[in-house]
Amino acid sequence: MQAIDKIISDAQAAFEAAPTVAELEQAKARFLGKSGALTELLKGLGKLPPEEKPKAGAAINEAKVRVEGLLQARRDAILAAELEERLAAEAVDVTLPGRAQSRGGLHPISRAQERIERLFASMGFSVADGPEIENDFYNFTALRMFPDHPSRSMQDTFYVADSDKVLRTHTSPVQIRYMQSHQPPIRIICPGRVYRVDHDATHSPMFHQIEGLWIDEGVSLADLKGTVAQFLRAFFERDDIEIRFRPSYFPFVEPGVEIDMAWSRKDGEVGYLEIGGAGVVHPDVLRNGNIDPAKYSGFAFGMGLDRLAMLKYGVNDLRLFFDNDLKFLRQFR
Ligand code: FA5
Repeated sequence: MQAIDKIISDAQAAFEAAPTVAELEQAKARFLGKSGALTELLKGLGKLPPEEKPKAGAAINEAKVRVEGLLQARRDAILAAELEERLAAEAVDVTLPGRAQSRGGLHPISRAQERIERLFASMGFSVADGPEIENDFYNFTALRMFPDHPSRSMQDTFYVADSDKVLRTHTSPVQIRYMQSHQPPIRIICPGRVYRVDHDATHSPMFHQIEGLWIDEGVSLADLKGTVAQFLRAFFERDDIEIRFRPSYFPFVEPGVEIDMAWSRKDGEVGYLEIGGAGVVHPDVLRNGNIDPAKYSGFAFGMGLDRLAMLKYGVNDLRLFFDNDLKFLRQFR
């Protein structure tokens, strides 16, 4: 019986000393395993005189139940401690103030573009698109800017070496692409990025234009004036917009004009800012777009979207739009 008590107290000490469940399992083997201390005692029962066997057997079984109880108690204690440790490590301090989600906003140029698309949609124009990497034919030749034409040098751009590819200098190539795949009536705008070797307060090397094209029977310069004036009044939400049509030359229109808009400069003087070029589409350009100039006529314009945004938001250096300075951009949220 003393041996049994010793086994129980040894087991208790061994279980208490096991810091993890894995080590506890090893300790268990020493007492309850195949050749564990209690199992050995059971094996020895056979050698006892018959009258002692029942008592000794009962005592060993009782000891087994106790050791199993001790084992289970220790296992529960280890698991509870581990759980507690994990909960403490993962504890969340619910009293901490939350991290504010900073809200993004649309870039002022994107906002202006969305607004322009909506206004032209209300006048029956749909939105067309074209590639930014153009070829020489669509960007220049189909618009009658022939290889040695001086108007090409005004739109110097980024050329892709050993190819006829250029970063488009204006959105006008979309006119040709659209006409080639659609017959009149055509009433589209095409907003998009364009590229030129330019850099000053009103010129950026990458900027945005909105092309407009309206081709149908009997469309004239008067329709151009009416459309542009109505658009500008709606865009600036003013009825007293002052615009000026200044005669100008673009090889792809005849007659051609520059559209200027009055604006208050920093020194308080009123100046005119050129916002776009426009005119009546040249008959050869209609032919390049597979449209019969004897039947159809129309106008086209190309406005500087960034210039319109400058005027709308009172920004006097266009390059600010592209510096990505959040202090500047946040003002438009
Ligand atoms: C053109 O690009 C012609 N394609 C416009 C056109 C279309 C004429 C259809 C006739 C018919 P222009 O080079 O003037 O024209 O440019 C048009 C507008 O783009 C300018 O009035 C100006 O508002 C804007 N712009 C031109 N260069 C820059 C630049 N570097 N940065 C910002 N805006 C510019």
